[in-house]
Parts: sequence; C-alpha cells; structure tokens
Amino acid sequence: MSILQLQDVYFSYKNKYQTNEVLKGLTAEFSEGKIYALTGKSGSGKSTALALMAGLELPERGAVLYEGVSTREMDLNCYRREKAAVIYQSFRLFPLLTALENVMFPMGLRGIKGRSAMEQAKEYIHRVGLEDTVFHRFPNMMSGGEQQRVAIARSLAMDTKLLLADEPTGNLDTANSENVMEILCGLAHEDGYCVILVTHDMGLLGYVDEVYQMQDGKFTKQ
Ligand SMILES: Nc1ncnc2c1ncn2[C@@H]1O[C@H](COP(=O)(O)OP(=O)(O)O)[C@@H](O)[C@H]1O
Ligand SMILES: [Mg+2]
Repeated sequence: MSILQLQDVYFSYKNKYQTNEVLKGLTAEFSEGKIYALTGKSGSGKSTALALMAGLELPERGAVLYEGVSTREMDLNCYRREKAAVIYQSFRLFPLLTALENVMFPMGLRGIKGRSAMEQAKEYIHRVGLEDTVFHRFPNMMSGGEQQRVAIARSLAMDTKLLLADEPTGNLDTANSENVMEILCGLAHEDGYCVILVTHDMGLLGYVDEVYQMQDGKFTKQ
C-alpha cells in the first residue's frame, strides 16, 4: 500500500497582479521501502510539489493523501512535525547548536530528553557514517558533506516513515553526493523509509527505484 498519494493536484502562486499556475494535475504514488526521484527543468515545480507533500502548502484542487488522509483535513503543524521529515540543499542546521544538539532537537519536541535522547542521537549520527568526533562540532566546523549527513541524522530523529529531500546533493562534490545517495538508498531499502528526492541531476537517477519527470505541471513516469 502506498504511504503518500498525489491525486490530480493543482497549485498556483498568486499575487495582486498575476497567477502562476505551477502544478496542473499531478498524480503519483509512493510506497515505503522505495526511493523516488522527481526531476524536471529548473522552475518546473519540483520544489512546489515537495512543499505540498511536506504539508507546507495545500493543493488548490485535488488532494495529497498521507496514509489515505488528505492534508487538507489534518492539523498541518502535527503533520509537519510527526509525518514528513525534510532535508534541503543548504542543510539548514541550527548554527548555534552542535551536531549532537541538532539531532536531539526533534526528539525534544516529542518529549524524549536527557540521556536516552543523547544515546539515540549518537546512533543516528553513526547511522549516517559519521564518527564521534563530530558530536560537539558546530555546523561551521563541519564540511558540507558532514553537515548534510547531520541533517539526515536530524531528520531520522523525527521518527517519520517519509523522508523528503530537495536537491540534497546540490551543494556537494561528486564523492559526497554519492555518499549521501548511498545513505538515502540504504534508508529506503534497509530501514523501510519512503524517500522522495527532488533533483535535476540526471546522474543520480541510477540510484532510485522510480522516476517521475515534471513537465508542463504534470508528471510522466519514466
Ligand atoms: N513563493 C513563490 N511565490 C511565487 N512564485 C513562486 C514561489 N516559489 C516558486 N515560484 C515559481 O513557481 C515555479 C516553480 O518553482 P519551483 O517549484 O521552485 O521549481 P523547481 O523546484 O522545479 O525549480 C517557478 O516559476 C517559480 O518562479
Ligand atoms: Mg527547486
């Protein structure tokens, strides 16, 4: 059974002067244990589609369903905190928190604190292939590849089944990009996450199970 479905989703950005219709009937479905890529040209609406899946925006028409329930019928703050973890191209770690504190942060929101939170956070950091030496480093003391891995560890600490990633390798060199893709594949295939990745880098498509190509506001499945 799919965990996330897009059913004929329409979305536009509007202001006083103009309407920009970005999504014009997106339909897709995503299952646990698989890794997916959404590709397409710059400006084609990939990040917008991800924002709807993350519960940051609601569709104008059609529906985004998580385990069969429309995001329109949910408390979106709960959905964002409990169901959809997101990682970004620019990492977005909290600059004044150490790696360990960054990873512990979402646990604090779920009421997991103290020693057990710290032990679990250390496990997540090891899960993404980092050593104990990063625990007490601040983001500006880590390389881009290390920061993105800490960001992935922080998203694991949200304890969701869904992992959304917007151009997660966009700021990384080839070796770090491959490393991040291997981690994301492992999370899908070994740990059972549903991983949905936005990328315009065709070189990464070999890692994923299914590819949705965005064109003229719709998906075509590759
Ligand atoms: N917050 C916004 N307000 C108005 N227009 C936006 C906003 N965000 C994105 N857009 C426009 O929507 C279109 C799709 O953008 P986006 O989803 O970011 O594309 P992609 O991620 O594929 O590059 C673009 O034309 C972009 O300029
Ligand atoms: Mg984008």
